[in-house]
Amino acid sequence: MNKIPRPRRSALYLPASNARAIEKARNLPADVIILDLEDAVAPEAKLLAREAALTALREGGFGPREVAIRVNALGTLWGADDLAAVACSGADAVLLPKVYGAADIDAAHAALAAAPPSMQLWAMIETCACIPQLNAIAARGSSTRLSLFVIGVNDLAREMRAHLTPARTPFLPMLSLAVAAARAHGLSILDGVCNEFRDLHVFGAEAEQGLLFGFDGKTLIHPNQITPCNAVFSPSADELAWADAVIAAFALPENAGKGAVQVDGKMAELLHLEQARQLRAIASAIASRS
Ligand code: COA
Ligand code: MG
Repeated sequence: MNKIPRPRRSALYLPASNARAIEKARNLPADVIILDLEDAVAPEAKLLAREAALTALREGGFGPREVAIRVNALGTLWGADDLAAVACSGADAVLLPKVYGAADIDAAHAALAAAPPSMQLWAMIETCACIPQLNAIAARGSSTRLSLFVIGVNDLAREMRAHLTPARTPFLPMLSLAVAAARAHGLSILDGVCNEFRDLHVFGAEAEQGLLFGFDGKTLIHPNQITPCNAVFSPSADELAWADAVIAAFALPENAGKGAVQVDGKMAELLHLEQARQLRAIASAIASRS
């Protein structure tokens, strides 16, 4: 089944308590806006942030952007009320932090029983405990609203006591495992944030690394990261030229019924044809957005 892909190159977090940031987000070129009720919001501002997120969704104005609300974890003072409020908020997705295992997905899914069928559940991959459980968690995609993973590098670094450097060496195995688990169960997956929001050189290298690992896009903390991120995660002119050549080669009458053909001196199989069609589909989804 080929669904029209949703561009999710750039997903900008902002504290839902920050009215100025919400106002700006309505005109920023991010594909996804994540209104945060969790770690970017101080305990004393939690209730205000929840109300502000609900008001923002009621007022709308986010255009084609997907809007997600990151709730507080279910074990916290605010988690259950956040989920109940967000269920009827009109958000496209709820982002659940601090997932330890599949039971957390089931609990959030149950708490969203009143939400419309279109509301998705997204899960933060940011605890040490969830790493050996990635496959079981991703498998919940078939029985719950779960549709997307988001890497949380700051919490992973804190729990592991690892150092978060631009190369991200301690995290690379986890990034690969999370991408593989997501893909095994048909989920989308977004890379973690780059805290260095003033240094776009560091940011660009990290975004490229995420692309190499197979992420659909990257989560962001500052508006100046959006345009470079969109550029990295958009199909390049070379990729699109390759896709067109592969599609054209398989369409030739002499190649009818073949599983492998040659394109510009390289082998292309039916799996490459599928990849080529996906690239074209995501490129046209991006084009129709801008
Ligand atoms: N979303 C929307 N607008 C944002 C923004 C964001 N994430 N971050 C900054 N802005 C806006 C500011 O409001 C400011 O707008 P203005 O100048 O038009 O009034 C402009 O962009 C420039 O901001 P700047 O002064 O460079 O940054 P700052 O010092 O105000 O804020 C942070 C820096 C890191 C505190 C801020 O970017 C932020 O809160 N990021 C998101 C944090 C978050 O949500 N974390 C949770 C997930 S890790
Ligand atoms: Mg976190």
